[in-house]
Amino acid sequence: MEPIVVTSALPYSNDRLHLGHLRSTYLPPDVFVRYLRRAGRDVIFICATDEHGTPIALRAEKEKVNPKDITDRYHPMIKDELTRMGCSFDFFSRTTAPIHYELTQEIFRKLLSNGFIYEQTLEQLRCPKCDKFLPDRYVEGLCPYCGYDGARGDSCDSCGRYLRPVDLKDPKCAICGTKPVPTPTKHWFFKLTAFQDRLKSWLESNERTPDNVKNYALGWVNEGLKDWCITRDMTWGVPVPVEGAEGKVIYVWFDAPIGYISSTKGYFQSRGDPDGWRRYWQGDGKIFHFIGKDIIYHHAIFWPALLMGTGEYSIPTAVVASEYLTLEGKKMSKSRGWYISIDGYLKGFEPDPMRYYLVSVAPLERDADFSVDEFIKRYNDELADVLGNFVHRTLTFLEKFFGSTVPEAKLSEQDQRMLAAVAAAQTEVASLIESLKFREGMVAIMGLAREGNKYLNDSAPWAAMKTDPPKAAATLYTSVQVVKALGSMLSPYMPFTAEKICQMLGIAQPVHSQPWSASSEPLPAGSRIGKPVPLFKKILPADVPKVKADLIPFKDIGARIKMDDFKKAKIAVGEVVKAEKIKGARDLLHLEVDLGEYGVKSCVAGVAKYYSPEELLKKRIAVLANIEPSVLFGVKSEVMILAAEGEDNVSVLVPDKAVQPGSGVR
Ligand code: MSP
Ligand code: ZN
Repeated sequence: MEPIVVTSALPYSNDRLHLGHLRSTYLPPDVFVRYLRRAGRDVIFICATDEHGTPIALRAEKEKVNPKDITDRYHPMIKDELTRMGCSFDFFSRTTAPIHYELTQEIFRKLLSNGFIYEQTLEQLRCPKCDKFLPDRYVEGLCPYCGYDGARGDSCDSCGRYLRPVDLKDPKCAICGTKPVPTPTKHWFFKLTAFQDRLKSWLESNERTPDNVKNYALGWVNEGLKDWCITRDMTWGVPVPVEGAEGKVIYVWFDAPIGYISSTKGYFQSRGDPDGWRRYWQGDGKIFHFIGKDIIYHHAIFWPALLMGTGEYSIPTAVVASEYLTLEGKKMSKSRGWYISIDGYLKGFEPDPMRYYLVSVAPLERDADFSVDEFIKRYNDELADVLGNFVHRTLTFLEKFFGSTVPEAKLSEQDQRMLAAVAAAQTEVASLIESLKFREGMVAIMGLAREGNKYLNDSAPWAAMKTDPPKAAATLYTSVQVVKALGSMLSPYMPFTAEKICQMLGIAQPVHSQPWSASSEPLPAGSRIGKPVPLFKKILPADVPKVKADLIPFKDIGARIKMDDFKKAKIAVGEVVKAEKIKGARDLLHLEVDLGEYGVKSCVAGVAKYYSPEELLKKRIAVLANIEPSVLFGVKSEVMILAAEGEDNVSVLVPDKAVQPGSGVR
């Protein structure tokens, strides 16, 4: 049988996970795998924590602990919260496992001997005081594009651009603040450029990878690829397995994806079958990677090229990347506290309603939003009213009218049509899941529940019980088959609910080990049914404020200030009388602002991404007039413009009615 390995991107082991991670990376593959297992396929579901990289090393240095202490702390928490959400990994390893170090070094050596890794000496920043090189986030400074003062050696949080440490203006050591010195050092590069054509034809001919991923990746390939520096001057990571490379480690993005293979190896080792992993990674196995959209480059370009370069491993069958989840319409952000952690959610709620919401809110290739109102609406209208209600009504009628026993039935045409819909749904849901259309599969199951409700209403067994008991018996016989099918087909999506339904029906074999085809096999007449318990308790209007308070991370407004403190700030309206770009700084504009009786002031404003100089000219805008002056890119800035920071834009504040330049703002 064709072996299938399904992976979730390896979470960094320095933080807990939130609903965004779940929606893109951990839930969809779980649905897929749970289905494949029941379809009798040879599938394994693999993950691990990603434990290297400068963010972890730097944090450890600041907290004066070992990086491993940090990853030791988070690994079990992450594993536990994913498990409680129902994510059914066969193995959840760590990239600090010895087997991972061995394999990473083996693959590095292989690529070296195949001629795809080469050495090059280049200048990197080095801190004279700490006496070490400063890779990636070990350097902070001024962003060369937007002038933001907290940019880091790998990216700028303000404008979002990728950076190299040597790009930063006015760089400082992130540990001690000393100005680092460019110093020559030897590094190893992966010849990504050598794979340009192979990647292109692989992407173009790949049938399983969804279009959103293909389009992104082909865009990059067509732009032209660059070789990747795959080593760093630091000690936290997999040592570079070459003589003379002491004090250097392999870059985290080189070793992390190898974690998919090393974790598979660990799994088979733990089962006493040390060569078992080869079927999945070296034979004709199928490989499915599930990730978020921010790491498509790493999975659809870098990783397949690396595998191709070894000549020893299979290339991914599909890279499935999901767009981001927002919270109440706004980007989630760990640093700004705007997110719902998995752990926080599970403190007040069952896993299944969230699994349901996140899968059904939007297809993976579209952005999705988590909103508490929408969550409550779907919970009440769909889970409680459609699904829960149908199951509950069927089982309570059976209890009341037929002593909790599935009755003998002579089926009418209408009953048979209902049963035919069950069989059709079983095939349809299977084919939707196989083609990675998880949302559509869930929608089809809910469609069956809706049909069940309508059928039950139309057949009205409570009335037929008095006039035509055999008809009522046929209706309930049929309805309970629909309940059974729903319980069964829900198992990939809502595994806990599926188990509950199966137990209420008195079916002894756990739903997850039943074959998928069992969904439409009838529960025979005479079967005893257990006590019906409601599956989803409705959220009442009176409870909504509490649900909101429990879920939404409303921000604290912060320390209060005195009126006198506010009065120290001199805010005034000024007219922009001159506006021009600043050479070398893409995001900054130089403005001259006429403040009436205070005179004309010079101002450097980080709004070039949102306003052209012409747009600002003649505008009357609010400025903070008595801020301490500073110099940015050689230009004096004496006042600061005030602007509202929207989700994806910035908007200067203008008075609502005409006022003269120099007017105060209170
Ligand atoms: N360690 C890397 C992955 C290495 S894979 C060889 C990483 N880790 S992460 O912890 O930052 O993210 C884990 C997964 O969650 C990634 O697939 C990432 O794309 C995804 N997401 C992170 N934030 C997300 C949202 N707000 N929404 C959806 N997915 C998100 O990246
Ligand atoms: Zn330093």
